[in-house]
Amino acid sequence: MSDIPIATPARVLRTVRGLPTSDGGGVKLTRVIGSPELPDLDPFLLLDEFGTDRAEDYIAGFPSHPHRGFETVTYMLDGRMRHKDNHGNEGLLTPGSVQWMTAGRGLIHSEMPEQEAGRMRGFQLWVNLPARDKMSAPKYQEYAPDHIPLATPAAGVKIKVIAGQVGEVIGPIVQPATDPLYLDIELQPGSEWQHALVAGHNAFGYVFEGDVTVGAGEAATVLASQQLAVLGGGEVLQLRAGQRGARLILVAGRPLREPVMRHGPFVMNTRQELMQAFVDFQEGRF
Ligand code: CO
Repeated sequence: MSDIPIATPARVLRTVRGLPTSDGGGVKLTRVIGSPELPDLDPFLLLDEFGTDRAEDYIAGFPSHPHRGFETVTYMLDGRMRHKDNHGNEGLLTPGSVQWMTAGRGLIHSEMPEQEAGRMRGFQLWVNLPARDKMSAPKYQEYAPDHIPLATPAAGVKIKVIAGQVGEVIGPIVQPATDPLYLDIELQPGSEWQHALVAGHNAFGYVFEGDVTVGAGEAATVLASQQLAVLGGGEVLQLRAGQRGARLILVAGRPLREPVMRHGPFVMNTRQELMQAFVDFQEGRF
Protein backbone atom coordinates (compact mmCIF):
# COMPACT_ATOMS: atom_id res chain seq x y z
CA MET A 1 0.00 0.00 0.00
CA SER A 2 1.23 3.47 -0.79
CA ASP A 3 -0.13 6.89 0.02
CA ILE A 4 1.87 8.59 -2.74
CA PRO A 5 -0.66 10.15 -5.08
CA ILE A 6 -0.27 9.34 -8.75
CA ALA A 7 -0.18 12.49 -10.84
CA THR A 8 -2.99 12.79 -13.35
CA PRO A 9 -1.90 13.70 -16.87
CA ALA A 10 -3.07 17.08 -18.10
CA ARG A 11 -5.16 16.98 -21.27
CA VAL A 12 -6.35 19.24 -24.01
CA LEU A 13 -9.61 20.83 -22.82
CA ARG A 14 -10.21 22.55 -26.14
CA THR A 15 -8.36 23.57 -29.27
CA VAL A 16 -8.55 26.93 -31.00
CA ARG A 17 -7.29 28.19 -34.34
CA GLY A 18 -6.40 31.84 -34.74
CA LEU A 19 -8.28 34.35 -36.83
CA PRO A 20 -6.45 36.30 -39.55
CA THR A 21 -6.67 40.00 -38.78
CA SER A 22 -4.67 43.20 -38.99
CA ASP A 23 -3.70 45.76 -36.39
CA GLY A 24 -1.49 48.81 -35.90
CA GLY A 25 -0.76 50.47 -39.23
CA GLY A 26 -2.09 47.40 -41.06
CA VAL A 27 0.19 44.58 -39.92
CA LYS A 28 -1.17 41.16 -40.88
CA LEU A 29 -1.36 38.80 -37.93
CA THR A 30 -3.22 35.85 -36.47
CA ARG A 31 -5.27 36.53 -33.33
CA VAL A 32 -5.43 33.37 -31.23
CA ILE A 33 -6.59 34.73 -27.85
CA GLY A 34 -8.82 37.80 -27.91
CA SER A 35 -10.97 36.52 -30.76
CA PRO A 36 -14.70 35.66 -30.51
CA GLU A 37 -13.80 31.98 -30.13
CA LEU A 38 -11.48 32.56 -27.14
CA PRO A 39 -11.98 36.12 -25.78
CA ASP A 40 -9.54 35.51 -22.93
CA LEU A 41 -7.96 32.88 -20.71
CA ASP A 42 -7.54 34.67 -17.38
CA PRO A 43 -5.01 36.31 -16.88
CA PHE A 44 -4.23 36.26 -20.63
CA LEU A 45 -6.20 38.79 -22.67
CA LEU A 46 -4.71 38.41 -26.14
CA LEU A 47 -2.25 36.35 -28.15
CA ASP A 48 -1.20 37.49 -31.61
CA GLU A 49 1.14 35.51 -33.82
CA PHE A 50 2.86 37.45 -36.57
CA GLY A 51 4.83 35.59 -39.18
CA THR A 52 5.54 36.58 -42.74
CA ASP A 53 8.30 36.93 -45.32
CA ARG A 54 6.40 39.69 -47.13
CA ALA A 55 7.50 43.19 -46.12
CA GLU A 56 4.12 44.64 -47.14
CA ASP A 57 2.50 42.56 -44.37
CA TYR A 58 4.52 44.23 -41.58
CA ILE A 59 6.20 47.39 -42.89
CA ALA A 60 3.48 49.75 -41.55
CA GLY A 61 4.31 48.57 -38.00
CA PHE A 62 2.46 49.74 -34.93
CA PRO A 63 2.63 53.57 -34.85
CA SER A 64 2.01 55.53 -31.62
CA HIS A 65 -0.71 54.03 -29.45
CA PRO A 66 -1.49 53.96 -25.71
CA HIS A 67 -1.82 51.13 -23.17
CA ARG A 68 -3.15 51.12 -19.61
CA GLY A 69 -3.89 48.45 -17.01
CA PHE A 70 -2.01 45.38 -18.23
CA GLU A 71 1.26 44.04 -19.67
CA THR A 72 2.32 43.47 -23.27
CA VAL A 73 4.86 40.72 -23.89
CA THR A 74 6.65 40.70 -27.23
CA TYR A 75 8.73 37.65 -28.10
CA MET A 76 10.64 37.96 -31.36
CA LEU A 77 11.57 34.87 -33.35
CA ASP A 78 12.77 36.57 -36.55
CA GLY A 79 13.20 40.19 -37.54
CA ARG A 80 13.96 43.41 -35.74
CA MET A 81 11.49 45.80 -34.15
CA ARG A 82 12.29 49.27 -32.80
CA HIS A 83 10.40 50.29 -29.68
CA LYS A 84 9.96 53.87 -28.39
CA ASP A 85 7.70 55.35 -25.73
CA ASN A 86 6.70 58.84 -24.59
CA HIS A 87 8.79 58.52 -21.39
CA GLY A 88 12.05 58.42 -23.35
CA ASN A 89 12.51 54.65 -23.36
CA GLU A 90 13.79 53.13 -26.58
CA GLY A 91 15.09 49.73 -27.57
CA LEU A 92 15.63 47.32 -30.42
CA LEU A 93 14.07 43.88 -30.25
CA THR A 94 16.28 41.39 -32.09
CA PRO A 95 15.54 37.72 -32.92
CA GLY A 96 15.14 35.68 -29.72
CA SER A 97 14.64 38.68 -27.45
CA VAL A 98 11.72 39.34 -25.15
CA GLN A 99 10.18 42.57 -23.93
CA TRP A 100 7.83 42.25 -20.95
CA MET A 101 6.27 45.70 -20.69
CA THR A 102 4.14 46.61 -17.69
CA ALA A 103 2.01 49.46 -19.02
CA GLY A 104 0.54 50.14 -15.58
CA ARG A 105 -1.09 53.60 -15.43
CA GLY A 106 -0.19 54.27 -19.01
CA LEU A 107 2.26 55.05 -21.74
CA ILE A 108 2.19 55.78 -25.43
CA HIS A 109 4.54 53.78 -27.60
CA SER A 110 5.34 52.70 -31.11
CA GLU A 111 6.66 49.36 -32.35
CA MET A 112 8.12 49.69 -35.84
CA PRO A 113 10.05 47.21 -38.01
CA GLU A 114 13.75 48.01 -38.33
CA GLN A 115 14.04 46.25 -41.68
CA GLU A 116 12.59 46.68 -45.15
CA ALA A 117 12.76 43.07 -46.28
CA GLY A 118 13.07 39.57 -44.88
CA ARG A 119 11.17 37.60 -42.35
CA MET A 120 9.30 38.99 -39.33
CA ARG A 121 8.00 36.43 -36.87
CA GLY A 122 7.00 36.39 -33.22
CA PHE A 123 4.25 36.71 -30.65
CA GLN A 124 2.56 39.38 -28.63
CA LEU A 125 0.80 38.28 -25.47
CA TRP A 126 -1.27 40.54 -23.20
CA VAL A 127 -1.23 39.68 -19.50
CA ASN A 128 -3.72 41.32 -17.18
CA LEU A 129 -2.72 43.16 -13.99
CA PRO A 130 -4.64 42.93 -10.73
CA ALA A 131 -6.66 46.00 -9.66
CA ARG A 132 -3.96 46.96 -7.13
CA ASP A 133 -1.29 47.19 -9.88
CA LYS A 134 -3.24 48.75 -12.75
CA MET A 135 -2.14 52.29 -11.89
CA SER A 136 1.47 51.37 -11.07
CA ALA A 137 4.39 53.12 -12.80
CA PRO A 138 5.21 51.67 -16.24
CA LYS A 139 8.25 49.41 -16.37
CA TYR A 140 10.16 47.13 -18.70
CA GLN A 141 11.80 43.75 -18.34
CA GLU A 142 13.72 43.40 -21.58
CA TYR A 143 16.16 40.59 -22.35
CA ALA A 144 18.41 39.87 -25.30
CA PRO A 145 18.57 36.21 -26.41
CA ASP A 146 21.83 35.52 -24.54
CA HIS A 147 20.05 36.44 -21.28
CA ILE A 148 17.27 33.90 -21.75
CA PRO A 149 18.49 30.65 -20.20
CA LEU A 150 18.25 27.32 -22.03
CA ALA A 151 17.08 24.12 -20.33
CA THR A 152 17.84 20.71 -21.84
CA PRO A 153 15.78 18.42 -19.59
CA ALA A 154 15.62 15.39 -21.93
CA ALA A 155 17.19 14.05 -25.12
CA GLY A 156 16.12 16.14 -28.12
CA VAL A 157 14.44 18.77 -25.96
CA LYS A 158 15.57 22.42 -25.84
CA ILE A 159 13.61 24.97 -23.85
CA LYS A 160 14.15 28.71 -23.66
CA VAL A 161 12.90 29.70 -20.23
CA ILE A 162 11.53 33.23 -20.51
CA ALA A 163 9.44 33.08 -17.34
CA GLY A 164 8.99 30.37 -14.72
CA GLN A 165 11.16 27.35 -14.06
CA VAL A 166 12.25 24.13 -15.76
CA GLY A 167 14.30 21.95 -13.40
CA GLU A 168 17.01 24.24 -12.02
CA VAL A 169 16.69 26.75 -14.83
CA ILE A 170 14.81 29.92 -13.91
CA GLY A 171 13.59 32.51 -16.41
CA PRO A 172 14.49 36.19 -15.90
CA ILE A 173 10.94 37.63 -15.78
CA VAL A 174 9.56 38.57 -12.37
CA GLN A 175 5.80 39.07 -11.99
CA PRO A 176 4.44 37.88 -8.61
CA ALA A 177 0.84 38.89 -9.41
CA THR A 178 0.32 36.22 -12.07
CA ASP A 179 3.46 34.08 -11.50
CA PRO A 180 3.77 33.40 -15.25
CA LEU A 181 5.36 30.50 -17.09
CA TYR A 182 6.51 31.29 -20.64
CA LEU A 183 8.55 28.63 -22.43
CA ASP A 184 9.71 28.29 -26.03
CA ILE A 185 9.98 24.51 -26.47
CA GLU A 186 11.85 22.85 -29.34
CA LEU A 187 11.35 19.08 -29.70
CA GLN A 188 13.32 16.89 -32.08
CA PRO A 189 11.27 14.26 -33.99
CA GLY A 190 9.84 11.68 -31.58
CA SER A 191 11.29 13.29 -28.46
CA GLU A 192 9.29 13.46 -25.25
CA TRP A 193 9.11 15.76 -22.26
CA GLN A 194 6.86 16.13 -19.27
CA HIS A 195 6.33 19.06 -16.97
CA ALA A 196 4.36 19.59 -13.76
CA LEU A 197 1.78 22.37 -14.17
CA VAL A 198 1.02 24.62 -11.21
CA ALA A 199 -2.36 23.69 -9.71
CA GLY A 200 -5.02 26.34 -10.25
CA HIS A 201 -3.14 28.22 -12.98
CA ASN A 202 -4.56 28.52 -16.48
CA ALA A 203 -2.30 27.10 -19.18
CA PHE A 204 -2.11 26.91 -22.94
CA GLY A 205 0.22 25.61 -25.60
CA TYR A 206 0.52 27.03 -29.11
CA VAL A 207 2.35 25.03 -31.77
CA PHE A 208 4.16 27.07 -34.41
CA GLU A 209 6.24 24.38 -36.14
CA GLY A 210 5.54 20.67 -36.71
CA ASP A 211 3.08 18.87 -34.49
CA VAL A 212 2.98 17.50 -30.97
CA THR A 213 0.91 14.94 -29.08
CA VAL A 214 -0.39 16.14 -25.71
CA GLY A 215 -1.19 13.51 -23.07
CA ALA A 216 -1.10 9.77 -23.42
CA GLY A 217 -3.46 6.87 -24.00
CA GLU A 218 -7.08 7.57 -24.83
CA ALA A 219 -6.88 11.23 -23.82
CA ALA A 220 -3.97 11.94 -26.19
CA THR A 221 -4.55 14.80 -28.64
CA VAL A 222 -2.42 15.73 -31.63
CA LEU A 223 -1.88 19.48 -31.97
CA ALA A 224 -0.95 20.74 -35.40
CA SER A 225 0.94 23.90 -36.21
CA GLN A 226 -1.09 27.07 -35.55
CA GLN A 227 -3.35 25.33 -33.06
CA LEU A 228 -3.72 26.49 -29.49
CA ALA A 229 -4.65 24.02 -26.77
CA VAL A 230 -6.21 25.07 -23.49
CA LEU A 231 -4.65 22.64 -21.01
CA GLY A 232 -5.96 21.29 -17.72
CA GLY A 233 -7.62 18.43 -15.94
CA GLY A 234 -4.36 17.12 -14.49
CA GLU A 235 -1.00 18.04 -13.04
CA VAL A 236 1.52 16.63 -15.48
CA LEU A 237 1.79 17.81 -19.05
CA GLN A 238 3.17 15.14 -21.39
CA LEU A 239 4.45 16.18 -24.81
CA ARG A 240 5.68 13.99 -27.67
CA ALA A 241 6.87 15.44 -30.94
CA GLY A 242 5.69 14.08 -34.28
CA GLN A 243 7.83 12.93 -37.22
CA ARG A 244 8.91 16.44 -38.15
CA GLY A 245 9.62 17.59 -34.62
CA ALA A 246 7.77 20.49 -33.07
CA ARG A 247 8.12 23.94 -31.69
CA LEU A 248 5.58 25.48 -29.36
CA ILE A 249 5.15 28.05 -26.66
CA LEU A 250 3.78 26.89 -23.31
CA VAL A 251 2.29 29.69 -21.24
CA ALA A 252 0.58 29.55 -17.84
CA GLY A 253 -0.35 31.93 -15.06
CA ARG A 254 -2.44 32.51 -11.97
CA PRO A 255 -5.94 33.71 -12.87
CA LEU A 256 -6.89 37.07 -11.33
CA ARG A 257 -10.65 36.35 -11.12
CA GLU A 258 -11.48 40.07 -11.25
CA PRO A 259 -14.01 41.86 -13.44
CA VAL A 260 -12.52 42.88 -16.80
CA MET A 261 -13.68 46.04 -18.54
CA ARG A 262 -11.69 46.44 -21.75
CA HIS A 263 -11.75 48.59 -24.81
CA GLY A 264 -8.92 48.56 -27.33
CA PRO A 265 -5.64 49.25 -25.51
CA PHE A 266 -7.22 49.92 -22.08
CA VAL A 267 -8.05 47.07 -19.69
CA MET A 268 -9.57 48.08 -16.35
CA ASN A 269 -11.94 46.63 -13.75
CA THR A 270 -14.90 49.03 -13.99
CA ARG A 271 -16.62 51.14 -16.62
CA GLN A 272 -15.75 54.28 -14.62
CA GLU A 273 -12.03 53.40 -14.75
CA LEU A 274 -12.28 52.73 -18.47
CA MET A 275 -13.87 56.16 -19.09
CA GLN A 276 -11.15 57.74 -16.94
CA ALA A 277 -8.49 56.05 -19.10
CA PHE A 278 -9.89 57.76 -22.22
CA VAL A 279 -10.01 61.15 -20.43
CA ASP A 280 -6.47 60.79 -19.05
CA PHE A 281 -5.14 59.78 -22.47
CA GLN A 282 -6.88 62.66 -24.25
CA GLU A 283 -5.67 65.15 -21.65
CA GLY A 284 -2.06 64.00 -21.98
CA ARG A 285 -1.66 62.31 -18.58
CA PHE A 286 -0.10 59.10 -19.91
CO1 CO B 1 1.56 48.33 -27.99
